[in-house]
Order: sequence, then C-alpha cells, then structure tokens
Amino acid sequence: MHKEALDLLDNLSGEDKRIVDKFFREVYRQEREHYWSITKLFYHAMYIPMFLQIAQKYYPEQVYIDTHSGPGLAKIGGSDRDVILGSPLLALRWPKIIAENVKQFRKIEKGFTRLYYIDKDPRRISVLKRLSGEPANVNLSVGDANLLLPKIDVPGNAIVYLFVDPYGSLESQLGYEALKTFVAGKRVDLMINVLAPNIAQGLSSIRNKNTLLARIEKLFGEAFCDNRLCEKLGITQPLCNPGPKKASHILRAYWCTLKRLGYRKYSILPVKFKGTILYYMVLAVKGSGKWIDGYKEFIHLHAPKDYKTLKNLWLEATGRLASLSRFLEQ
Ligand SMILES: C[S@@+](CC[C@H](N)C(=O)[O-])C[C@H]1O[C@@H](n2cnc3c(N)ncnc32)[C@H](O)[C@@H]1O
Repeated sequence: MHKEALDLLDNLSGEDKRIVDKFFREVYRQEREHYWSITKLFYHAMYIPMFLQIAQKYYPEQVYIDTHSGPGLAKIGGSDRDVILGSPLLALRWPKIIAENVKQFRKIEKGFTRLYYIDKDPRRISVLKRLSGEPANVNLSVGDANLLLPKIDVPGNAIVYLFVDPYGSLESQLGYEALKTFVAGKRVDLMINVLAPNIAQGLSSIRNKNTLLARIEKLFGEAFCDNRLCEKLGITQPLCNPGPKKASHILRAYWCTLKRLGYRKYSILPVKFKGTILYYMVLAVKGSGKWIDGYKEFIHLHAPKDYKTLKNLWLEATGRLASLSRFLEQ
C-alpha cells in the first residue's frame, strides 16, 4: 500500500504536486512525526475489512462516504517519502489489497459498491478525482459537508460506512442537522474524528452567550442546552455557559447526540501523543453491532502502542509483521 501511494505521488503533475504539498503543510504543520494521522488511518484501515466482510452478507449495497476527504494522500512522517493513502483512497483500494493478501478476507475484493467523497476545497477534489481514476462507482463533490451530505441519495438496501475527519476548527465540524437528516431511517456505521480538545478550546473562547448557544446548537442540535434535556443527558451546564470547557464535556455531548440519533453502541478510541490526548476516534453503530465488539477487541489486543511499530507497518518496513495486511492475518 505504501508503494501504491508512492507511485501515485511520483506520477502527480506539477500542479497536483503543489496542491498536495500545500495540503500536507496545512494539515501536518505541528509535528514532524505525524502520529495523529497514522493512528486514525490505522483504525479506519482495520474497520474497512471487518465492515465489508459482514455487510456483504446482509446488504446488497455497501456504501462508503468520506465527508472531509482531502486529496487522497496522507503524510505520516518528516520525510518526503513518508506518504500513504489517505482515507478516501484507502476505502477504494485497500479491500482489493487485503483480499489478495489475507485469506480470511478474500471475498471483499470488490470493495464498496459506491463511494462518495466530499471536500470543500475544489483543488483537493480535483487531485482526488485524478488519483482515484474516477471509476463509475465513485462520486466526488465540492462543498461544505453540512450541505452536501444530506443530499446523498443512498439506496434503501444499503448499509453505509460514514467516515468524518474534519479539522479542529468549529467551522469544519459536521453539525447535528446534517447528520440527523442523513442518518434518519438508514443503517449508517459512523467513524468520526472528535477533536474534543480543539472544540473545547473553540467554544471556551466564545464570550457571548447567544453566540455560544448558536454554536452548540449547530454542533449538537436544537434544544441541546435546554435545562431538562441537559439533566436527562447528564450534560453539565458549563458547556452552555460562557467559560472554560473540557474535552470530556465535548465527548459526552457527542455521545448524547449520537444516542438521540438512534446509535446504540459505540467505541471510543483515544489517540494520545506524549501523554496528551489529541483526539478521539469514535465508532458508533445503530444495530446491536456484534462486529463492533470484535473490532474493539482486535484494536485493544493488537494495535501497536508505539508510534515506530505503527509507522513501520504503514511503510511496509521489514520485520515479523511487515505490512498492514500481514498484521490483519493475526
Ligand atoms: C484532516 S483533512 C482530511 C484528511 C483525510 N481524511 C485523509 O485521510 O487524508 C480535512 C479536510 O476537510 C476539508 N474540510 C474542512 N472543512 C470542511 C467542510 N465543512 N466540509 C467539507 N470539507 C471540509 C479540508 O479541505 C481538508 O481537506
């Protein structure tokens, strides 16, 4: 998979290379070793085969939606060659790679029946268009995911894997209305990057009560700060009053919101770096979610705890488990 990413990178036109470089500079400006992208993409890559294997048995259509797709390549380290497939291309190419390499997943070769990619940056979507090769089952759109997600028309016999990976700013988040409208009446497994520390910081900086309430309503829905509802949901009022907020308030608000939208099971995977929580990957399912338990256990038991091992898996370095597909065979 690393080789595929490098091939794509090496064949980019000059203009596309500039767009990708700019994306890398914007997304990965703080750390030389990009621990946060490597981990979220690891969780994503591990969920895809498990989702497809079970979903294919029960649903004729398996749909993938990436609301904040980026251009299709991600950077996982300081070197120019530390590049891997980003979330949208993982969803497109990884099932075939696994099926060819891991016996127990050989039936998922065809991958998702339809894929939808959204990004508000037209240049990133145009690079992704070229990198994906634009097969007939791939749909790309430019715009705010809050406006575009509710418009996606998913067939009634489908199950959806929705991957939401925004920036940390409040503007970038997928809000309540879009999520509510989209998931209503559908079977949607949701993997969302909850950048709780950033969101808490963003909300803490709002001094005006009405502005704060409008922001919270956008994120977590109408009447979220209604006293009785807060009490029922176990949300402490500080979230709705100007002042400092904690990441734990935000995480709780997300889970309450998901419960209101019909989600019954969830798994929270905190991503830490040097003892600090950077974000939480939250996986939520509406059904009894038998496979979420298997997934949780797999991650808990097998996910490498150290950054170096994880990076080596992605970069297909030598070793006993020399690649992510070998890793899945465990
Ligand atoms: C963290 S990056 C996504 C990385 C991608 N998941 C990957 O694996 O490479 C976030 C992306 O979201 C896009 N974005 C930000 N706000 C958005 C919005 N409201 N709607 C759609 N896309 C948005 C940005 O242009 C950026 O490409």
